Amino acid sequence: MAVREIEPVLLNLDRLEHLAETGYYNPYTMFDWPESIEPDLPWMSESLTTLAGTPMWDELSREQQLALTRYEAINFFSLNIHGIRELMSEVVMRIHERTYANVSDFLHHFIGEENEHMWFFARFCLRYGGKLYPAQPSLKAGSVDHLSPVARELIVFARILIFEEIVDYYNAHMATDQSLPRIAREINRVHHQDESRHVAFGRMVFVNLLDQVVKRDPAEVPVVAEYLESYLQYSIATLYNPAAYRDAGIPDALALRRRALEHPARVTAHDEVLKRTRKFLSKAGVGREAIA
Ligand SMILES: [Fe+2]
Ligand SMILES: [Fe+2]
Repeated sequence: MAVREIEPVLLNLDRLEHLAETGYYNPYTMFDWPESIEPDLPWMSESLTTLAGTPMWDELSREQQLALTRYEAINFFSLNIHGIRELMSEVVMRIHERTYANVSDFLHHFIGEENEHMWFFARFCLRYGGKLYPAQPSLKAGSVDHLSPVARELIVFARILIFEEIVDYYNAHMATDQSLPRIAREINRVHHQDESRHVAFGRMVFVNLLDQVVKRDPAEVPVVAEYLESYLQYSIATLYNPAAYRDAGIPDALALRRRALEHPARVTAHDEVLKRTRKFLSKAGVGREAIA
C-alpha cells in the first residue's frame, strides 16, 4: 500500500469520539434473544423487500411473502457481515499508517464496533435462519487500478461509506417498524445508532481524500465518479439474491431477479435508497454529472 504519498488525514473527531465513548454498550448482553420468532411476523419490512411495489409481490401467497421477508432479512444481514469483514480488514491495515495517525483513536472505536455488529448479525442469521448466504462476487475495480495511490485510497473509503449509507437506510426504517419481531427491530436500531457516527466520519475522510485527488490531478475525478456510480448500482443489485427467492419457494429466481431489478417501481425505490448518498457525492463534485 503506497500510502506514503498521501498527506495525513487531519480531522477533528472530538465529538464523534465522545459519542462513541458515552454510548458504549455491551453487545453480548444487551439483546434478548428469543428461542424462536413468531411464525406470522415479517423479519424485514415488507416495503423494503425487493419485490415491494410490483405485481410480482401481489402474485405471491401470504406464505411466500412472509418467507421472502425472512430470507431477504438473512440476505441483508449476510451482506452486512461480508461488507463489515471487507471494511474492517481495510481499516486494520491502515490503523498505524502515517496518513491515519491523527484519526487512529476513532479507527479503534470503529473496528471494535464493527466486530460487534458482525457478531450480532451473524447470531441472528444462524439462530433463526440456520445459515448465512455466501459473499457475492465483488465489483471489479479494473477501471481504477491505474489511478494514483490517493485516488485508489479514496475509492477504498468511498466503498466503505457507500456500503454504510445504503445499509443505514434500511436500518433506520426497520428500527421503528412495529410489524417486525422485537429482536429484528433492536438489531437494526442499535446498528443505526453506531452507523450514524461511522457515516459522519466516512464523509469527512472522503472529503479530505477527494481534496487531495483534486489538487493532485483533477482529471482523475470523472473516473472516480464513474466507478462510484457503478458501485452504487452494484450494491443495490446485491440485495436481489436469487437464492433468497428460491428459499422462499418462488420459481424462476433468475428471471424474477431481472424483472424486479428493472421494474419502474423498483427503480424509484432505488433512487429513494440512494438519494442521500447521491446528494452528498454531487455536492462534493463527484456525482453522476461529473462522469466524463
Ligand atoms: Fe456496522
Ligand atoms: Fe459502520
